[in-house]
Amino acid sequence: MPESRKIVIDTDPGQDDAVAILVALASPELEVLGITAVAGNVPLTLTEKNARKICELAGRPEVKVFAGATHPMVRSLVTAENVHGKTGLNGPELPEPEMALQAQHAVDFILETLMREESGSVTLCALGPLTNIALALEREPKIVPRIREIVLMGGGFFEGGNVTPAAEFNIHVDPHAADVVLRAGIPTVMIPLDCTHKALTTSKRVEAFRKLGTRPGVATAEMLEFFERFDENKYGTDGGPLHDPCVIAYLLKPELFSGRHINVTVEIASELTMGMTVADWWGVCDRPKNVTYMRDVDHEGLFGLLVERIGRL
Ligand code: RIB
Ligand code: CA
Repeated sequence: MPESRKIVIDTDPGQDDAVAILVALASPELEVLGITAVAGNVPLTLTEKNARKICELAGRPEVKVFAGATHPMVRSLVTAENVHGKTGLNGPELPEPEMALQAQHAVDFILETLMREESGSVTLCALGPLTNIALALEREPKIVPRIREIVLMGGGFFEGGNVTPAAEFNIHVDPHAADVVLRAGIPTVMIPLDCTHKALTTSKRVEAFRKLGTRPGVATAEMLEFFERFDENKYGTDGGPLHDPCVIAYLLKPELFSGRHINVTVEIASELTMGMTVADWWGVCDRPKNVTYMRDVDHEGLFGLLVERIGRL
């Protein structure tokens, strides 16, 4: 088997983040160098604790978890307890974590890791607001050429937004951070709502996780049953979009996804469209192409991969 791909997962768990982390920890193709928590779905004190709960659920208490930014770069924090519940991981009963939180700040960990590891060998997987990554880029621009790729869940254009009519949550929470990241000139894959809205947690798919009969499998079914209800009511669908695991699935099976290399620019001026990701899908402007923007996913193949991987835990 080829050498595993080194990744750092930056995350705001969140049930969908949790499924992404479980899949990553179950996949030998990936070497998780660390998990950095950021404020987003719920405050940082909960996202870092949830990240540790998920590592223990995966049977991987040795994974290093770091706490990062408590709030966005410029705007005040907006959270999403209405979607994820008060703890951010409502659904299953998960024990308080025993594994320790790392003392080092997440941004320092990201910088130290990128400066230590072979240049161009580390991929940043961003599952929440981009505050930690933007702070690292601003602190030490030398890391730019050392990052192999950023694969992020965020944005939306044809689907509009899910927090405002224009903005998707991760970008809406910290649009300034997203602007820094998208302007940095780093090879970036964006997996937006246009793609994740095609990956629905239908009842058949939730049952497939439960039928694994393992703690991770049953807990995943319980997380998804809680997480999906908000979007089912909003969109009137069977199941809700499963966003963050698409990032890890892209690393494992990129052929499941399709998109175009285009310009994506973030709105950071207008309150009306703050955090909107303006995707130049038809190439009508001469702004630089900075993102591989995924618009489609083979959702049957995606869920087959997610169930198979979580079944390994
Ligand atoms: O808009 C969906 C994104 O916002 C996902 O990452 C979800 O976890 C929330 O953070
Ligand atoms: Ca997330």
